[in-house]
Amino acid sequence: MTVCLLPPDGGAVPYRGVMMDPCRHFVPLPEVRRMVEALALIRMNVLHLHLSDDQGWRFESLKWPRLTTHASSRPKTVVGRPGNYGREGLHPENYLNKYDGTEHGGFYTQSELRKLVTFAKSKGITIVPEIDMPGHMRAARAAYPELGFNGSVHEVGCSWGVYSEVLRVDERGVQFAKDILGEICDVFDSPYVHIGGDECPKEEWSASPISREQVKGMGLNPDHLDSYHRLQAWFTSEMAAFLASKGRKLLGWDEILDGGAPEGVVVMAWRDWTHAAERATKAGIPIVQAPSLLYFDYAQGPEKDEPLSIGPGATLEQVYAFDVYKGVPDEHRALVLGTQAQLWSEYIPNPKHLWYMAFPRLIALADVAYYGDKRDSYDEFLQKLPARVEELRKLGIDGHPLP
Ligand code: ACM
Repeated sequence: MTVCLLPPDGGAVPYRGVMMDPCRHFVPLPEVRRMVEALALIRMNVLHLHLSDDQGWRFESLKWPRLTTHASSRPKTVVGRPGNYGREGLHPENYLNKYDGTEHGGFYTQSELRKLVTFAKSKGITIVPEIDMPGHMRAARAAYPELGFNGSVHEVGCSWGVYSEVLRVDERGVQFAKDILGEICDVFDSPYVHIGGDECPKEEWSASPISREQVKGMGLNPDHLDSYHRLQAWFTSEMAAFLASKGRKLLGWDEILDGGAPEGVVVMAWRDWTHAAERATKAGIPIVQAPSLLYFDYAQGPEKDEPLSIGPGATLEQVYAFDVYKGVPDEHRALVLGTQAQLWSEYIPNPKHLWYMAFPRLIALADVAYYGDKRDSYDEFLQKLPARVEELRKLGIDGHPLP
């Protein structure tokens, strides 16, 4: 497979993307293609597809077929916002304990994804795939309990938040991860392959004799939490080496810095993000800026004026004022590969709502990333916006009303 590099195309930064999450709510392929067309129109060049999570597995694996037969749907979905969201505590019980009782699922076949990659390429868009590991593994564990500990069996996640089920990262888990990433590299031509790495609770590892032996073998104390951060870092470096053998670079959420990031990776800075950006770039690691300001699953302003979302978020004007170099020491600006908006879909149940949350903020971010300091003033941007929104409407995309 020829790896498709992000070609220089006149943009202020080379990586200008958006992430879609078909796991919490499945996004049918025609809508993914619509997003590709929209990105081409606004001069973005990356669509990051988050293909696995606790609530559903969306990538067809020929080696691990139960991922699609058993992990790609859940029997029900939590209604509203679970009461413990944002609190400590790793088992997200729904405070109201209300579920919709409706099965929800879907997945993309390898053949469909290959066609998508070809279509995207024809539009100048690279699809960056993500398989989220070693946390966010509940759906995979429901299909293959042996990827966990003590044969524990769980149903695919039906609520939101962070589940405690993680991948065991001994030989068995590492083989699983390599099998899946190998298939991912066969299907996608992106120079970057995202392995997630975010929100990986360490409780199962620290309680398991298997992982405890592993950290002892690394010369670490199994009673220290930090040892398990190092275990995750070891797993990340195994994956980075595997991807390098396929000519790809590992991309991961900024948690991959926690136990010491291996060489040659790229970090997506999202948590306490200016700090993550500073930490990564000082270590010489390239970054994609993906801070909470660019979490477009948050409302476009105060929550009271908007449909249910995860919380109050950035207005169009705030997105347009975004500084892609925020938190990055001047001498490390060259390490900013680009920026990305996130469309996590816990509260984005259908495509109509997806477009409402994404636009027009995505146009604002696209201009920030493509034109950089040479972009129009915000007033000029607003004057030109109705014509651009009309172009999107022709693609079947209706966003949030303009300010
Ligand atoms: C993330 O928002 N968990 C990367």
